[in-house]
Amino acid sequence: MGDQFIPEKIKINNNVFVYPMPVTLLGANVKGKVNFMALGWITRVNANPPMLGIGVHKSHYTTEGIKENKSFSVNFPEAEMIIETDYCRLVSGENVDKSSLFEVFYGELETAPMIRECTLKGNE
Ligand SMILES: Cc1cc2nc3c(=O)[nH]c(=O)nc-3n(C[C@H](O)[C@H](O)[C@H](O)COP(=O)(O)O)c2cc1C
Repeated sequence: MGDQFIPEKIKINNNVFVYPMPVTLLGANVKGKVNFMALGWITRVNANPPMLGIGVHKSHYTTEGIKENKSFSVNFPEAEMIIETDYCRLVSGENVDKSSLFEVFYGELETAPMIRECTLKGNE
């Protein structure tokens, strides 16, 4: 290793984050209305079958829709969508209608609203 500098381990507290974190938009229909919330707690958990793991607090309005329909979408916003993305964490669908922030469409999962402006797709 020669003269290479090896830093000491730094002890961190229990609130552990793995950086960098993406900011995605989690979509669900809640009581028949489209809702999106900012979601950073997301990771790949399996390749085949393809699976993502997400962490969503039980108090969020979006959680009600996921339980109701057993479906959701994950959308990767473009940089220019930062204002709308931030708004989706700032306000709750319980109090504010977030259904018209984006152009919404549906795929095979007919109750998982997806955002047209988020163009990233998986391999088809
Ligand atoms: C950058 C960022 C990432 C977030 N990630 C999560 C997350 O992974 N899980 C979660 O439960 N809340 C997360 N939140 C908080 C929700 O987006 C926020 O509470 C939102 O208002 C919930 O909306 P809803 O009540 O309409 O479902 C995040 C907020 C921000 C700013």
